[in-house]
Amino acid sequence: MMPKLNDVESFWNSNPCMARLYHGNKNKITAFTKIEDERYSRFSGILKYALFKSFKGKKVLEVGCGIGSDGIQFARNGACYTGVDLTNAAVSIAKERFELFGQKGEIIKVDTESLPFPDNYFNHVYSFGVIHHSPNPENIVNEIHRVLKPGGSINIMLYNRTSFYYFIEVKLMRKLFFMFCEKKIFWNRLFRMFGESTAKRFESFRQKLEEMKAINARPTTKEWISTHTDDVFCPLAGVYSKRDAQKLFIRFREFKSSVWFIDRDNWFLWLVLGRFMPRSVQNWLEFNFGWFRMIQAEK
Ligand SMILES: C[S@@+](CC[C@H](N)C(=O)[O-])C[C@H]1O[C@@H](n2cnc3c(N)ncnc32)[C@H](O)[C@@H]1O
Repeated sequence: MMPKLNDVESFWNSNPCMARLYHGNKNKITAFTKIEDERYSRFSGILKYALFKSFKGKKVLEVGCGIGSDGIQFARNGACYTGVDLTNAAVSIAKERFELFGQKGEIIKVDTESLPFPDNYFNHVYSFGVIHHSPNPENIVNEIHRVLKPGGSINIMLYNRTSFYYFIEVKLMRKLFFMFCEKKIFWNRLFRMFGESTAKRFESFRQKLEEMKAINARPTTKEWISTHTDDVFCPLAGVYSKRDAQKLFIRFREFKSSVWFIDRDNWFLWLVLGRFMPRSVQNWLEFNFGWFRMIQAEK
């Protein structure tokens, strides 16, 4: 059965993106600083693709702002920032973050399928890793189109179907792992070859897979994709080729799509391949078959 918006809300409300350091740290300024360091060292491409400095004095809407990680960059760079998110948890952490760092912005809990803004209102709409979690992505895109001014721009990240991660990790390596995930001793010996911290991460993933298998031993393709993007218990996620994305954003003009990101620490095959592959080949793979598909277009 297709997950509903309630399932999506309930999952993200319990698992706000990158909030682990927030909950584990009493000093919230330190926590947010660490979150920011972790985010832009792991996803350094965001600093290049998000164009934070380009919207001074412009009205920017972020769809699915999470705990305000990218939102605060727009605000610091002078944008008139509005962030919306489906969950109370993300909205309250994002508000606290803006307040602590003295940044202005409006952050509200709302489902993007029905935005409380007039037509033709924003100059720019940004969204990172959100729309593919929706049961009705077309409705979200229609709302983005409605609230964007004519000539306004969008910058949206969707997971890339034509990627190394999707074909090699999700469709192959993880399926093999899932099939034999009960073989704890074998996997732990194997993982230890890559160091203690890698072994710990993969063992906790193995345990989650075992739990998942006990609940659903034969996931459908849709379920398999959903549970292998952000978390084994994520209710819904989709992947988009360039053509899929073009279809989704058909109402926009000047459509551009580019891809990036390889998770060098968390992909099984990469742990091995990454050691032997020349940097030039890694870069070629990243910018042709990376996991993040950035869509830029105009209304
Ligand atoms: C993977 S997180 C990304 C958060 C943030 N963009 C980031 O990069 O840290 C997905 C976020 O999208 C939000 N979300 C999912 N569906 C939504 C919807 N229909 N309207 C608003 N927010 C939504 C979730 O609540 C969650 O915070």
